[in-house]
Amino acid sequence: MNNIDIINKRRIFGIISHPDAGKTTLTEKLLLHGGAIREAGTVRARKNSKYAKSDWMEIEKQRGISVTSSVMQFEYNDKVISIMDTPGHNDFGEDTYRILTSVDSAVMVIDAAKGIEAQTKKLFQVCSMRGIPIFTFINKLDRESMDPLESMQELEDVLGLPSVAVTWPIGCGKEFEGVYDRLRNTVYLFRKNEQIHLDENRVNSSKLDGILSPINLKNLRNAMDLLDGAGNEFDLEAVKNGKLSPVFFGSALADFGVTEFLEHFLQISPPPSARKTTKGVVNPTDEEFTGFIFKIQANMDPNHRDRLAFLRICSGTFVRGMNVTLSRTGKQLKLSQSTHLMANERETVDTAYAGDVIGIYDSGNFQIGDTLTNGKDKIFFEPLPTFPPELFCRVSAKNSLKGKNFQKGVEQLAQEGAIQVYKNEYNEVILGAVGILQFEVFEYRLVNEYNTDIRMENIDFTVARWVKTDNPEELKKYQNSRCMLVYDHYDRPVLLFTNTYALKSFQERNEDVELVDALDVIDEIDA
Ligand code: G4P
Repeated sequence: MNNIDIINKRRIFGIISHPDAGKTTLTEKLLLHGGAIREAGTVRARKNSKYAKSDWMEIEKQRGISVTSSVMQFEYNDKVISIMDTPGHNDFGEDTYRILTSVDSAVMVIDAAKGIEAQTKKLFQVCSMRGIPIFTFINKLDRESMDPLESMQELEDVLGLPSVAVTWPIGCGKEFEGVYDRLRNTVYLFRKNEQIHLDENRVNSSKLDGILSPINLKNLRNAMDLLDGAGNEFDLEAVKNGKLSPVFFGSALADFGVTEFLEHFLQISPPPSARKTTKGVVNPTDEEFTGFIFKIQANMDPNHRDRLAFLRICSGTFVRGMNVTLSRTGKQLKLSQSTHLMANERETVDTAYAGDVIGIYDSGNFQIGDTLTNGKDKIFFEPLPTFPPELFCRVSAKNSLKGKNFQKGVEQLAQEGAIQVYKNEYNEVILGAVGILQFEVFEYRLVNEYNTDIRMENIDFTVARWVKTDNPEELKKYQNSRCMLVYDHYDRPVLLFTNTYALKSFQERNEDVELVDALDVIDEIDA
């Protein structure tokens, strides 16, 4: 097989949803179909396990939230698929955002009874901004649900995303009888494990008489009449540009409608795409090896205190033991410890291709957003986004003898992008977060992974602005009760303000001070 065929077999997609819509359940069923896990309950068990596999899954269990995200690879029908799970909670939106920069498509899971909830809307906007193709799976049809036409309308109204139904539900809740696959012109019967291929009369075929309940049959025929007449037509180009969402219905829990979804998804979704860099576009078929780190997670397994960097390969072939350059530092690295990311085990990977995600054991070299290449040019992929934090606290180790552990924990969690870390002129550590749960996870992880009790004290600032200046010393004169000077992870000066009024009045008084929302790290390095 040549490289083009190998690459075209690959799919990387992110799975997004509001918490509880059924993301974990659907992921698990997809992995089951791909043979990546052997029994239902494996992923759920990981989520709920008494024997949490990673330390901070314990906090997820306590809070009933999803904090972490992971990547799982499986094969189905000759395709190699990487699912990137995303944290369901708003407070970890930054992590989700970063994951979505590294996928080629996204699957949005929606609870059929609840429709689109605020969180889904926000995530969708991220995908839409980046033109990522979005597939919609409307879940829990085995329960009472919204009228499917209303669900489709909601997609259009709330998200502004035109949609096209690929499958259509036949009833819901107690009356749920199956789905009709419009592309295959086939009805799949729920609980009966039977399929009926229809003739040219489609849903008006007499083959359905006496099979479906009269009311469901009538509704199905009416709905298809409407959709065939006035609905959007299936347009592959529009799907690929993120302008039209193919919609599927089913029940992840009952594993119904999932296979149809998966098979169509693999047919329609795009293979690995070209990606922009500071030196032009990199195509997946390019010979030079390139990739970027979109996620770092330390201490995934409490038995092995290791740190794994997740690398998306964008071009070329990865061969274990190869030498690459880390663009940010110019440092040469040998990639000798690499792993496939599987549902419940890890396996050494010797060769991997564009469109694969692999884990690289990291001894502290990498940061989120790092580019790796074996080419001669120093290139950078587009920077991963950072959200300006809105919550701040001062943090220190309760026991000064634990100072070293504390510094290490702070440093590592900052590199992971789990939280933003600043220092003030007295070398005190100031944390910045987008959501309050990030602080809780930080504290939990310091106690559990770095064996350090900490003292956290909220400080009354809500706005951060980076300052473009050649003379950071001079900024000290602006400090007062409404403005604090701190330095970020790269030692760049940042001014914290109590609120937007304080910011505004500062700007009015100091027009010559150039303030920006967030700085692009690459700009800095290239300069
Ligand atoms: P999430 O990852 O999006 O947060 O959702 P998750 O899969 O954990 O599912 C949330 C709840 O919804 C779970 O129930 C799950 O069993 C249920 N669920 C998922 N898909 C379906 C479906 O198609 N039909 C029905 N009826 N339920 C579904 P739970 O009670 O919170 O957890 P558990 O006790 O089942 O583990």
